[in-house]
Amino acid sequence: MEYILSPSILSADFKTLGDDIRKADAAGAQWIHIDVMDGDFVPNISFGMPVIKSIRSVTDKVFDVHLMVEEPGRFIDEFAACGADYITVHAEACTHLGRVVQQIKEKGCKVGVSLNPATPLSVLDYVLDDLDMVLIMSVNPGFGGQSYIEAMDQKIRDLRNMIEKKGLDVDIQVDGGVTADNIAHIKECGANVFVAGSAVFNGDIEENIKKLFKAMEV
Ligand code: DX5
Ligand code: ZN
Repeated sequence: MEYILSPSILSADFKTLGDDIRKADAAGAQWIHIDVMDGDFVPNISFGMPVIKSIRSVTDKVFDVHLMVEEPGRFIDEFAACGADYITVHAEACTHLGRVVQQIKEKGCKVGVSLNPATPLSVLDYVLDDLDMVLIMSVNPGFGGQSYIEAMDQKIRDLRNMIEKKGLDVDIQVDGGVTADNIAHIKECGANVFVAGSAVFNGDIEENIKKLFKAMEV
């Protein structure tokens, strides 16, 4: 299994966003996690298409776009056109989740579905076969710098079992409160894609990424 670090630029310094992304790229992060918030699905607003389009020229790394947006089906074409490689939508935000999943695939993007901490895995029962990734939120989405919710350990284990039972090849991404102190444990639970915002961008980006990779190897 491939283990991937996806730094969340929500915690980057926006006045030097391009430089921060270049540093994360040079330090070996395979993906760049891009949090889009609409002030409706989550109680915060971040940034949207123009920013994604602009930073697309900074790196060739995978753009992992996490849409915390109500009814994201309205904007799939636009996010695909900005250079998203993965588009992840929240199950809670889609009236017709299956339709949105197909829309993303039709655009040639990889598709992820995200679940808030309190959302049960059963919402995936009839859609899991179509997914490239499931994103388990390990904080209530909206802000960086929150603490990992321990109850998500079991949710990750259960999801890994569910994927294995069905014989699928689906990535498990974990987002929220991931640090060098808990990343090995989260990996042990069955996750293979790790989002980290404040643990990457607060302080020395290169040092932080090195630390996370080292901790991940254990
Ligand atoms: C939270 C976002 C996360 C956030 C993670 O709503 O989806 O991607 O940036 O930040 P940390 O790693 O600081 O918890
Ligand atoms: Zn995110």
